[in-house]
This record gives sequence, structure tokens and C-alpha cells, in this order.
Amino acid sequence: MSDRKYLIAANWKMNPAPQGALAKDSPYRTLSSVDVWVFPTYLDLQPCIEAGLITGAQLGSSAANGAHTGDVSMTMLTELKCRSVLCGHSERRHGRHETNEEVIAQTIAALEAGLHPIVCVGETLKQREAGEEKEVVRKQLEGLPVESRIIIAYEPVWAIGTGKTATPAQAQEMHASIRGLLPKDVRDSTRILYGGSVKPDNAPELLKQKDIDGALVGGASLKPDEFRAIVEAAIG
Ligand code: 13P
Repeated sequence: MSDRKYLIAANWKMNPAPQGALAKDSPYRTLSSVDVWVFPTYLDLQPCIEAGLITGAQLGSSAANGAHTGDVSMTMLTELKCRSVLCGHSERRHGRHETNEEVIAQTIAALEAGLHPIVCVGETLKQREAGEEKEVVRKQLEGLPVESRIIIAYEPVWAIGTGKTATPAQAQEMHASIRGLLPKDVRDSTRILYGGSVKPDNAPELLKQKDIDGALVGGASLKPDEFRAIVEAAIG
């Protein structure tokens, strides 16, 4: 994995922070050897930040301010002391019809506000069965600024919350393809995370792959013991 530091990110989605998450011995605390970040709902951002967790939002607006009912701007997230924000999670792309252009606009807004965006990409089962997965992901990354603060998460839609994981070989192949698309200046330094049913039993093999630099964890991140085991897999 070259000298890229592993990042294990917990996406709690629309769930409360797991019990004990803010405690001193919480598995959600970042470590010197592995970066650990959490993505709670907006309501839990401030408590997580105040407890000293490295925290990001699950969504931020591409707009700077104004008449956008329900939205939160990237600058507001920075002012709250968020480190990061998810852009283009598949539940937003597919459930909320966010387009590739909108996701790129969010990413640019996040960078301008000083955040470290995690840009999520990934194909549906139908697209994979049609052999279109690399082209789909290439289009999702089109227009991405050249910026070392960007992190990419490859999350095949068919593996999210389904218990089906991409095999380590499938994931590595896509990660290598994504890395190949990145401009030379940031190709080796950009962290590319895998997401989609990451669990304690499959994490070690996935994390061993050359171009997998961490994980974006959904379901298992709600269970402190499982999450701790995934972080330990990254410690090695
Ligand atoms: P699961 O780990 O529950 O499959 O969710 C993955 C995900 O969507 C992380 O963002």
C-alpha cells in the first residue's frame, strides 16, 4: 500500500451514534497508526467533535448559502470543525437523484471550504453485468479537481448493505483502474477506500490489496466490537 496511511471511516447513516462512541476507549477514536473518522447525522456532529473524534458530515451543499431549505453549507461544516464530508454516496445518487455534475460541484465546494471530501463512486449490479463498471466510475470521476485532499471511496452499489462483498481481486482491479485515472501529481498519494459489506472477516484480505487504502464501513460501524476488529485489521 505504499506509504499511504490507512483510513477506516464509519458511516453511521441515519442512525444514532453507537453506544460508547464518545468514550475515552472508543474504537471510533483516531490512532497514530491508522486514521479513524466518523460520519454521524448532522445532529451528532457537534457532540462527536467535542468528544475529540475526527468527524465528517454525510452531505454538504454545493451552494454557498441562501434559499436552500434543509441544506447545510460546506463552510458551516468547516466552522463546526468537521474534517470531512461524503460526496455522492450511492444512497444520495440513487435515492436522491444526485447527478455526477452535482457530486463534482459538492466536491469543489468542500475543497473551497477547506474540507477533505470523500467522493463515493460505484456501479450498480446491472452495470457490472453489462461490463460497464469501469466506464461508469470513470464518468463519476470526470471533472474531479486535482487536489491531494480528495479521498475516493469505491462502493459497488450491489455490495452495500447486501452482505455481498466485491472479492478482493474485483475490488483491487477497480481500485487500480481508478488510480490510473488520477492525474500524475496525486496518483500515488490519493487514498482509495473500499466500501460495501466490510466486516471483520473480510477486512484483512481487502486491506491487503495494493491499491486499497482503507474502508468506508456502514452496518459494521454501528457495532463497536466489529468496528474495532476492522480497525485492528488495518493496524495489521
Ligand atoms: P455497508 O457496510 O452496510 O454495506 O454500507 C457501506 C456503505 O454504504 C458505507 O458508506
